[in-house]
Amino acid sequence: MKYENILILASAIGAVATPIQDVLSASKPRPLVIWHGLGDSYDSPGLLKVQSSIAKMHPGIYIHSVYIDPDPKEDKRATFYGNVDEQVELVAQQLKDVPQLSGGFDAIGFSQGGQFLRAYIERHNDPPIRNLITFGSQHMGISDLPACKPYDLLCNLARHAAHAGVYNEWAQQNLVQAQYFRDPAQLEQYLDSNHFLASINNELPARHKNTTYAANLAQLDALVLVLFTDDRTVVPKESAWFGSYPVPDGEEEGAGGGGKEKAIVPMREQPLYVEDWIGLRTLDESGRVELVSCDAEHMRLSPECWKPLVKKYVGSRS
Ligand SMILES: *[C@@H]1O[C@H](CO)[C@@H](O)[C@H](O)[C@H]1NC(C)=O
Repeated sequence: MKYENILILASAIGAVATPIQDVLSASKPRPLVIWHGLGDSYDSPGLLKVQSSIAKMHPGIYIHSVYIDPDPKEDKRATFYGNVDEQVELVAQQLKDVPQLSGGFDAIGFSQGGQFLRAYIERHNDPPIRNLITFGSQHMGISDLPACKPYDLLCNLARHAAHAGVYNEWAQQNLVQAQYFRDPAQLEQYLDSNHFLASINNELPARHKNTTYAANLAQLDALVLVLFTDDRTVVPKESAWFGSYPVPDGEEEGAGGGGKEKAIVPMREQPLYVEDWIGLRTLDESGRVELVSCDAEHMRLSPECWKPLVKKYVGSRS
């Protein structure tokens, strides 16, 4: 049958005429991009194993594993050292240059790779991501120094020293984790010095907010946020669900110590969500955010945890 005849037939049965490329690619699963986590590299044995499992689940799928450097040693180093804004720019160009991805793709971010992929969506999204799954990511940053008791001098000194360091210019340009360190007890300092997380969370004053970020993120078909219930690496673990510690109201300084667990501000109570700075509320109110928990320590991915998600949200053929 000639192409023209197929089109006539298609419109006769109510389908909209589509270019031949779309007709052909309809039989192939949507490609996938993976961004690995801290201390990993794009071609590590663990990551290759995950990729081959996914390929078995979705035969014929094209998978691209994001790298900052083709040399695995350097790629691993870049998960600790470097400027995250520059890394996101580099990856945006890398993804644009892969012909197989040009029609859009699904994406999986492991740990910090999750918020980096979100930055890609907000700042670029060209080609666009359809479904994004993030595993144990730090969407509201980390505040990983436990609170001190008011009179625990050593603890308080160490805490202040570390905080002074984490927000200094050098750390913010060169230490990857510092670029998503966010301590609600020192919010002013964070907003003044952090150029990555404060930007992609659109937390800066109104005149600095970027409406493109929200418009882009709201284009997703699904945002799947996976939290590890026994996560002791990410503090607080609820960061994976856009949760964070509250901003203390002065008098409570230090009251979080003494072994008591601090309260968490959940996603739907965050100003970022309530005022829809990044399109998260739009996504959620149209049923496109899924909060999932896996009973495990940080990134201890069991097949029962990740396989159903990858089956559902990756490799769509429609
Ligand atoms: C907002 O972000 C987009 C995408 O990164 C960028 O092109 C644009 O210049 C930004 N707008 C402002 C006002 O900063």
